[in-house]
Amino acid sequence: MGLARKVRKEYIKAGAIAEQAISSIRTVYSFVGEKKTINEYTAALNGSMKLAEARSSQRRGNSESMGGETLQNVSGEVEFKNVKFAYPSRPTNVIFHNLNLKISAGKKLALVGVSGSGKSTVIALLERFYDPLDGQILLDGICHGAIK
Ligand SMILES: Nc1ncnc2c1ncn2[C@@H]1O[C@H](COP(=O)(O)OP(=O)(O)O)[C@@H](O)[C@H]1O
Ligand SMILES: [Mg+2]
Repeated sequence: MGLARKVRKEYIKAGAIAEQAISSIRTVYSFVGEKKTINEYTAALNGSMKLAEARSSQRRGNSESMGGETLQNVSGEVEFKNVKFAYPSRPTNVIFHNLNLKISAGKKLALVGVSGSGKSTVIALLERFYDPLDGQILLDGICHGAIK
């Protein structure tokens, strides 16, 4: 399994445990249960952190051999330009056809929509868990896939 997918799997695991915790708080409070949940959550998060570190050092290795931009100062403007994306596991199910989004540096943007509308996918693309099929994701005007 690719590291990117492993990282995402661990995130999902952590998310599922957090959801479980919230619903168990709603129903019944058990100290032992809460402690167990916190331990599980911590372990899952640690797993994803380790994988994320491994992945970024792997990428550093890759980008060092291939070159790649280094941003001296990041102001933080994010732009999605005509982004097309489908998950590798479901290539015929195109999630974004022509997504355009511009977030000025320092601004906050809320993604609002029903479950399955693509909020998490925007973030997964921003985090470079996946590459867009077409279009560009720019950080300070530079294609973020080209940044070390
Ligand atoms: N890992 C994945 N593999 C294939 N399809 C996925 C995956 N994750 C999400 N999807 C699909 O992508 C679409 C957008 O999902 P998602 O970004 O998770 O929406 P939201 O976060 O708004 O609930 C949905 O149709 C969902 O089924
Ligand atoms: Mg989501």
